[in-house]
Amino acid sequence: MIKHEIAVIPGDGIGNEVVPAALNVLNAAAEVHGGLSFKFTEFPWNCDYYLKHGMMMPEDGLRTLQSFEAVFLGAVGDPAKVPDHISLWGLLIKIRREFEQVINIRPAKYIQGIVSPLVNPNDFDLIVVRENSEGEYSEVGGRIHKGEDQMAIQNAIFTRKGTERAIRYAFELAAKRRGHLTSATKSNGIFHSMPFWDDVFKEVSQDYPDTRTASYHIDALAAFFVTRPQIFDVIVASNLFGDILTDIGAAIMGSIGIAPAANINLNGKFPSMFEPVHGSAPDICGKGIANPIGQIWTAKMMLDHLGHQELGQQVLDAMEATIFSGIKTPDIGGKASTQEMTDDICSRLKKL
Ligand code: NAI
Ligand code: MG
Repeated sequence: MIKHEIAVIPGDGIGNEVVPAALNVLNAAAEVHGGLSFKFTEFPWNCDYYLKHGMMMPEDGLRTLQSFEAVFLGAVGDPAKVPDHISLWGLLIKIRREFEQVINIRPAKYIQGIVSPLVNPNDFDLIVVRENSEGEYSEVGGRIHKGEDQMAIQNAIFTRKGTERAIRYAFELAAKRRGHLTSATKSNGIFHSMPFWDDVFKEVSQDYPDTRTASYHIDALAAFFVTRPQIFDVIVASNLFGDILTDIGAAIMGSIGIAPAANINLNGKFPSMFEPVHGSAPDICGKGIANPIGQIWTAKMMLDHLGHQELGQQVLDAMEATIFSGIKTPDIGGKASTQEMTDDICSRLKKL
């Protein structure tokens, strides 16, 4: 019997509706597998916790989380109670940073039964690997002088280590998928860091002779996400480029409520964290109509990460079958509740 110990942080708003839904699906998946079980330990860290204790999580919160195999998170933020910069930096961003979750991965896929804003979505199925620890998002630089002499310098940091590990992770992922990797560059405009990125990409590619590669400038690449997303399998990108591409990826799927994500720790010292792209959606919280797909797809990514790819695929298949059958929440054009959608996915999974 394989047992996985998972830390669960539902967080705020609809996190408390979609996380229980996804845990039901994970338990159903474990049942299907037969030799698998989950132990979920829930932590009530959110904006209400902050109002009571003056912090988003206890002093030793990170140490507590560290002993788990993975962190499964809903959403953080309730601007009516706590300003966003306090709640997000006090929990979500703290975990991502301190746990050295240096890679962010986000798949995007055409799902039959969800209207994509693209006229012809062409069955795209891609995944963006975003470098998540350095690059353009650095605190190196500064501002100086006042008035007309004002100036600001913002440095982008590209280390050999950070660049190579992101690219290598993407090659490994491509090898498990359709064997195609695209690099997002801008070496025609960014003089130092992007030629460096290209060099590392070329060098690492020598270790993966079976993987077909492509390299596009980020502006053209962003346009291709809209005009022909079906040409992509895995895309590897720096922090800023990846941030932009993943938002386009979520957009062309048709609803923010279905987009999943994972923050991956690569050195094995800390757990990785799995969380959907959407936030706490205060506008629909408590109505029972939150789309659980983003969180359930995120659970599928956690299954993959824990080594259960086959089971992960079954969850994805069940999820897509439910959507295709028309059992959908209002944000994707249906009338179903969170619960109805989740129950249908669980029963399809058990019938597979
Ligand atoms: P949001 O993603 O919570 O909501 C944006 C819009 O999408 C809303 O109209 C909402 O109803 C809809 N939506 C989102 N998820 C949905 C779902 N699963 N099913 C159906 N509809 C869904 O973004 P917003 O409103 O900008 O932020 C609300 C709070 O969430 C803020 O405090 C923000 O800081 C936080 N936030 C947290 C994130 C995280 O925990 N990773 C990410 C984004 C926002
Ligand atoms: Mg973004």
